[in-house]
Amino acid sequence: MERADLRAIYQQGIAALEAARDLDALEEARVRFLGRKADLSNLLRSIAELAPEDKRVVGRFGNLVKKELEAAYDARHTQLEQAELVHGLAKDSVDVTLPGRELPLGHLHLITQTRREIEAIFIGMGYEVAEGPEVETDYYNFTALNTPEDHPARSLHDTFFVTDNVLLRTHTSPVQVRVMEKQRPPVYVIVPGKAYRRDSDATHTPMFHQVEGLVVDHGITLADLKGTLEQFAKAMFGEDRRIRLRPHFFPFTEPSVEVDVSCMACNGNGCRLCKRTGWLEILGAGMVDPNVFGFVNYDPEEFTGFAFGMGIERIAMLKYGVSDLRLFYENDLRFLTQF
Ligand code: PHE
Repeated sequence: MERADLRAIYQQGIAALEAARDLDALEEARVRFLGRKADLSNLLRSIAELAPEDKRVVGRFGNLVKKELEAAYDARHTQLEQAELVHGLAKDSVDVTLPGRELPLGHLHLITQTRREIEAIFIGMGYEVAEGPEVETDYYNFTALNTPEDHPARSLHDTFFVTDNVLLRTHTSPVQVRVMEKQRPPVYVIVPGKAYRRDSDATHTPMFHQVEGLVVDHGITLADLKGTLEQFAKAMFGEDRRIRLRPHFFPFTEPSVEVDVSCMACNGNGCRLCKRTGWLEILGAGMVDPNVFGFVNYDPEEFTGFAFGMGIERIAMLKYGVSDLRLFYENDLRFLTQF
């Protein structure tokens, strides 16, 4: 056994331990130079069998080399452990200054948006919002609205009946009667809500939405109705809009009118949207028929009033250029997310 052998073991061992790039490599080096089967271990174990000359060398330097290698191992082990900790912390760290990831948020359905727009306009004019049941009695939907049994106007509505006397309301007008039963004039209300008719095509769905309006007070005239609706049309469709009243018939108003707004697509000049007329129908209205006041004990000599009813889908279609009413209810995100 030569001193040179021990030196070689020492130098190679130190070099291997210090060169280890990670804990796995370090463990490999430890096994190779300090493990049970390492040259150094074999040497130290067999010291008794060595020649006296070698015994002296190995005895003197063998354990020294072992201690040095162990110290080098410990030092490198601490280093690598530290490095791995630092690396791990850096990898798992969170940069709290990064902007957050945006979650996809939905929004209100166009019908809800439009309903709220209409409500806001009338609330701005001092109206209150009222509601009533969608499952109605024949009395409120027809009779108290001056539409007695066998009245031809009943067949104009394709009604969903629940029983002989109970039905899905065909319009929001029955809430006029319910409001007047509960309060004395002055009445300034709008009534948003669902209505139902057996109807289905590009401009009709079996369920649709209306906003009813009712005003009853001293000295209300058709001029008040016209001024109110003109104000509404401008707020909804733009300052340049004008309206016109055409004679019509509803059982519960007298006189009755249909109201057109000047076409917003062509400014009234005539285009495809308004079928070259320059006008678009937006609602039905009229002066409350005295017979309706009779059902709620309002004195028609003391009070007059007007009422109107509009389809929210129709208003939304005109304002936002929607061509098919069924799009509102197909839940196609490509349509819905446009608004
Ligand atoms: N209820 C009528 C309809 O659904 C609209 C309307 C309401 C007309 C109020 C006049 C007064 O067609």
